Amino acid sequence: MLPIDRPALFLAPMQDVTDLPFLRTIAFFGGADLYITEYFRVHIHSRLDPYILRSITENPTERPIIAQLIGQDAPELARAVSDLKNYPISGVDLNLGCPAPVVYRKNAGGGLLRHPDQIYEILGRLREACGVTPFTVKTRVGFESEEEFDRLLGIFRSHEIDLVTIHGRTVKERYQTPVHDDRVAQAVRTLTCPVIANGNVVNCQTGLSYLELTGAAGLMIGRGAIRNPWIFEQIRCATSEQKIPKITGRMILEYITKLYDETAREIPEFIEDRHVQKMKKYLVYISQGHHADFEHQIRRVKNKTEFFETCARFLDYEGHAPDLPSENSRLFCGFSQFL
Ligand SMILES: Cc1cc2nc3c(=O)[nH]c(=O)nc-3n(C[C@H](O)[C@H](O)[C@H](O)COP(=O)(O)O)c2cc1C
Repeated sequence: MLPIDRPALFLAPMQDVTDLPFLRTIAFFGGADLYITEYFRVHIHSRLDPYILRSITENPTERPIIAQLIGQDAPELARAVSDLKNYPISGVDLNLGCPAPVVYRKNAGGGLLRHPDQIYEILGRLREACGVTPFTVKTRVGFESEEEFDRLLGIFRSHEIDLVTIHGRTVKERYQTPVHDDRVAQAVRTLTCPVIANGNVVNCQTGLSYLELTGAAGLMIGRGAIRNPWIFEQIRCATSEQKIPKITGRMILEYITKLYDETAREIPEFIEDRHVQKMKKYLVYISQGHHADFEHQIRRVKNKTEFFETCARFLDYEGHAPDLPSENSRLFCGFSQFL
């Protein structure tokens, strides 16, 4: 499943972001090597979400896609795996990292990290339910403290997991701190399966440093890929000694237009103003590192005309666009550890 001659590059799953239109868009601009769906929430009454399923049945990326599950109940999670096996998935991933209180208070996602015995049971059930289907885990390094990671690694080691992705923060650290790259390196040394490093990769250099510091088999990139969909292509070039493509303002404008069109054609009853609101959520990431007024002005647009006029005002140029977001922004913090 992973490339053999260079680090593997995954698009991170992001709820309400990495949906089918986003996958189409990111694949159009080079794309990742592997994808993971937004999570399927699993509980006693749940059925596989039809909209997320379309990322699998209509997978536009021509690359493997893994289905992610989030839940706390081992038999229900195993039932979801049986249902998923009717679809063309390349694996099943268990979410052990979601820091949203509404999720972790129910002991799902990152909340499970407080209950290692329950993780042990769930991993056993899921490994069995997956059979020959690859079974992967995406985890943080602990709930309260990274010291919890030693015990977690022991649990991961005792099940035949095919790949582990580590977002190098605790649940309590959410998204705003540097990542514990030493813990990712520890996982690389301890586990026999490939380990993928995640968190704070915002450009080529930060990705290469994270790989070098940890020895990980690859990278998973989330917010950095919303901001710059060419990041995968840039890292691929860097790791195969090719020239790294530069991104211009106009290329970003083209990306925004493509994302607008792809997202619009998925909405059954297209309402322009509502669509502009959805686009603003992407623009919060895309505008980071550009002129400080860009984010401010885009937040205030009310319709499609204002939206594209504002984007053009800040991006309609042939020069190189800023490679990095600003370090102290609410959305991108702590990445200077890799610069
Ligand atoms: C808006 C948003 C939604 C997310 N949804 C998910 C999700 O559904 N499943 C998951 O495992 N992680 C989810 N994450 C976490 C990311 O996959 C990733 O671990 C995190 O953003 C750190 O990587 P980054 O610094 O490259 O963004 C989400 C993150 C964001 C910002």
